[in-house]
Amino acid sequence: MIEQTTNVETRTMQADPRAIAAAARVLAEGGLVAFPTETVYGLGADATNGAAVARLYAAKGRPRFNPLIVHVLDLAAAHRLAQFDDAATRLAAAFWPGPLSLVLPKAPHCPVADLATAGLDTVAVRMPDHPVARALIEALGRPVVAPSANRSGHVSPTSAGHVAADLGGRIGLIVDGGPTSVGVESTIVACLSGQATLLRPGGISRAAIEGVLSVPLGDRTSAPAGAPQAPGMLASHYAPNTRLRLNTDAVAPGEALLAFGPDLPGGAAQAAAVLNLSPAGDVIEAAANLFAYLRALDQSGASSIAVMPVPHEGLGEAINDRLERATAPRVDGAKSS
Ligand code: TXA
Ligand code: MG
Repeated sequence: MIEQTTNVETRTMQADPRAIAAAARVLAEGGLVAFPTETVYGLGADATNGAAVARLYAAKGRPRFNPLIVHVLDLAAAHRLAQFDDAATRLAAAFWPGPLSLVLPKAPHCPVADLATAGLDTVAVRMPDHPVARALIEALGRPVVAPSANRSGHVSPTSAGHVAADLGGRIGLIVDGGPTSVGVESTIVACLSGQATLLRPGGISRAAIEGVLSVPLGDRTSAPAGAPQAPGMLASHYAPNTRLRLNTDAVAPGEALLAFGPDLPGGAAQAAAVLNLSPAGDVIEAAANLFAYLRALDQSGASSIAVMPVPHEGLGEAINDRLERATAPRVDGAKSS
């Protein structure tokens, strides 16, 4: 069973080599660490560890699985995660390390956990320009996902004190590197299908980016209302092609079963395929498995996927949100975020 991180004692350590080593150990063990970047404080987890990413969503109290930004040390690491087109290559050369996140197609063997990208085929990559963030990523030796270190719906923290006020008792360690210099989040640009699109304004101005690209940035809102969106232009959500049947208590012949908990419904033994999100009935474990299992069952050739009820407590809310979206009718293959 994966434990939930609540009512833990939150330690704040001044950023020094000892703190970095301690923080890297926490991350390597699947724990959470808040640390400074040049934009805002991030809540870090090992990007390759699905259970750690699930704990991160739980600590933030996010009602939905929004995809996360993956922080890397250098270009070589970025290229292991994502595919760079010409625009992405130029933007990275101009602004990295720095407050720019690039949403790019995943590389073929991208090691980032499916939950961190919310099951999408794209990944947001950023190379931070803060000595503490960089030292931590280097010490872990793996990419680090880090949303802003605030509870969902609260403002982003620019000091260790803000983080403690918001996440104290929910995370084990805060590395205090003083106030952040940029103070707003990174600018997010998607470089997909030959088009660079501004997804979120932030620490690097539109003008600076357009200066490097020599063409205007597309806007996520510039398409006429109702116009079909190119898949991947928006933070569109992964949804299986196979129909989902939620809250099932019986599996029909030819169906696959996405199970939860120890007691399988009638017909399970004859199911085309069975994957159990968490045999122990743990919603954090279930969240870590959700996207990978949906994908696997989608590819199983089953006529539909029967999904057992998942309780709405804790991360169960986000799991149910995502399952319900996956059953909603699609418009031009792109679902709104
Ligand atoms: O400055 C920052 O970017 C901070 C520091 C900690 O690095 N991080 C941050 O993360 O602001 P967060 O999780 O608060 O915001 C991430 C944003 C979300 O709006 C999410 O939807 C978007 O990035 N995003 C991540 N992956 C994406 C993807 N594959 N496609 C579209 N949007 C994506
Ligand atoms: Mg945020």
